[in-house]
Amino acid sequence: MALDNLLARNRAWSARVSEQDPHFFDRLAKIQTPAYYWIGCSDSRVPSNQILDLAPGEVFTHRNVANLLPPGDLNSLSTLQFAVDVLGVRHVMIVGHYGCSGIRASLEGARLGLVDTWLGHVQDVQVRHHKLLSELPHPARVDRLCELNVAEQFMNVCRTHIVNDAWKSGKQLAVHGLIYALEDGLLREMGLSAGNAGEAEQSYQEFIERAAGCQDRASSSSHEAHVSCSHASCSAGLPV
Ligand code: CO
Repeated sequence: MALDNLLARNRAWSARVSEQDPHFFDRLAKIQTPAYYWIGCSDSRVPSNQILDLAPGEVFTHRNVANLLPPGDLNSLSTLQFAVDVLGVRHVMIVGHYGCSGIRASLEGARLGLVDTWLGHVQDVQVRHHKLLSELPHPARVDRLCELNVAEQFMNVCRTHIVNDAWKSGKQLAVHGLIYALEDGLLREMGLSAGNAGEAEQSYQEFIERAAGCQDRASSSSHEAHVSCSHASCSAGLPV
C-alpha cells in the first residue's frame, strides 16, 4: 500500500472517530490516563489496543522483539517507570504470544544479525529451564519457551525497584503474565498475577511446578493441541 493510501485511511479514520465523538481528540490531547501498561512483542499480529478492544488513550504500550524487560534495558525500564510513577497505571501486563519468531530464532540458534544480541535474553531463559524444554518435541518446545519467557519477564518486572517501591508505598498495582494465540485471537491467563512481592514469588513458583507437571501432555501433543494445552487450561481452577 502506497503512503498516499495510508494517509487517506488515516483521514477517514479521524473523520469517523470525530463523527462518533466530536470531542474525542480534544479530550485526549489534554491528558492521558491509561489504566493499563502492556509489554508485548513487536510482532505486527499482536497489537495491544485492537486485541483488548480499547480506544487510543486507554493502554500505554511498550513493544520489542520477544516482549522482554531485561534488568539492564533502559528503554523498557524507562517506560515502566513512566507508566507506574507518572501515569499511575493500575495494571502491568506482560503479554507473550505462541509461535513467536524471536523465541523460535533463539531456540534454533539462528543467526539474524544485531537482533541475536537482544535475543540473548531469551537464551538466558532457555538455559535456566533447559530441563523443562529438553524433552519436548520442537513445536511444543517453542510454545513452552514462549510461556517460560513470559514467566521470567513477569518476575523481572516484579523485581524492579519501580514496582517494589510502588507496592511498599501502598499503591494499587497488579502485574500479570498473559499469552496470546494467533490461531484464535484470545489472550490466556497463566496463573501469573501479583499485587505484592510475596504473591509474585508464589505465582511464579506455582507456574513452574505446573509447567513441569504437564510435560507429558505437551510432549505428546501437536502444535495445535499444545496451544489448547497451555498453562491457562492446565491451571484451570487455580487462582489467577
Ligand atoms: Co513475537
